[in-house]
Amino acid sequence: MPLVDLRSVVKRFGEHEVLRSVNLTVSKGEIIAIIGRSGSGKSTLLRCINGLESIQAGELFVDGIPVHDPSADLRKLRARVGFVFQSYNLFPHLTVLRNITLGPTIVKRVSQADAAALARDALRRVGLEDKMHAYPDQLSGGQQQRVAIARSLAMSPMLMLFDEITSALDPELVGEVLRVLENMARDGMTMMLVTHEMNFARRVANRVLFIHQGTIWEQGRAATLFEKPTTEELRSFLGAVLN
Ligand SMILES: Nc1ncnc2c1ncn2[C@@H]1O[C@H](COP(=O)(O)OP(=O)(O)OP(=O)(O)O)[C@@H](O)[C@H]1O
Ligand SMILES: [Mg+2]
Repeated sequence: MPLVDLRSVVKRFGEHEVLRSVNLTVSKGEIIAIIGRSGSGKSTLLRCINGLESIQAGELFVDGIPVHDPSADLRKLRARVGFVFQSYNLFPHLTVLRNITLGPTIVKRVSQADAAALARDALRRVGLEDKMHAYPDQLSGGQQQRVAIARSLAMSPMLMLFDEITSALDPELVGEVLRVLENMARDGMTMMLVTHEMNFARRVANRVLFIHQGTIWEQGRAATLFEKPTTEELRSFLGAVLN
């Protein structure tokens, strides 16, 4: 059974059809990079998978949970799916440790001591064990983003969604965040990430989806897609983003 299964998914905002009959399956352990022009529907796709947007037609299953069903347990879904955005949204008045233990203690009702152990482990995975007692404004943007990733990891998700998580970072901080993702990929995490980092997509992704006008216009291995795009739309997109 695929971990993520979209069947003819349609998402509309009013009259505007933003996802137009999207079919997609993602297996456990797959790394999916999502590329495409601004406004093509990349963020909306991730938001639908996490149940942040309802869909108007089709079926959408995540780990067997029927997300399209209005009676689906979205709390259960979100406890299993981590979502990291461009803006890290850490609580400024809480230490790194408290930022991370909040989810496990409140959502999963884990004890403070167990949550602290989860936090320590998550921070080790992002290379920030020594920043446990720091406040967010004492950290660089790259470190804050790594804390945001650790916060998701502490919930033991089975799927991680990343939406342009390096786009707001200074160029010299992008590498450290991408290295964390690469380690997570190596550990077997299933990941879907919207990214402009084409070299990262080439190196790490099992599959690249090119979203265009609300559909998966082309997909395949990065090497194949980037070297031999079959549509003019992808060719022109790549021309703009690859130098
Ligand atoms: N809440 C909303 N209400 C109305 N329209 C929306 C809403 N969210 C997104 N849209 C529209 O849906 C389309 C797809 O938006 P989406 O954010 O998914 O694009 P994107 O591919 O992530 O773009 P970008 O690369 O700029 O982040 C856009 O035309 C956008 O204006
Ligand atoms: Mg977006």
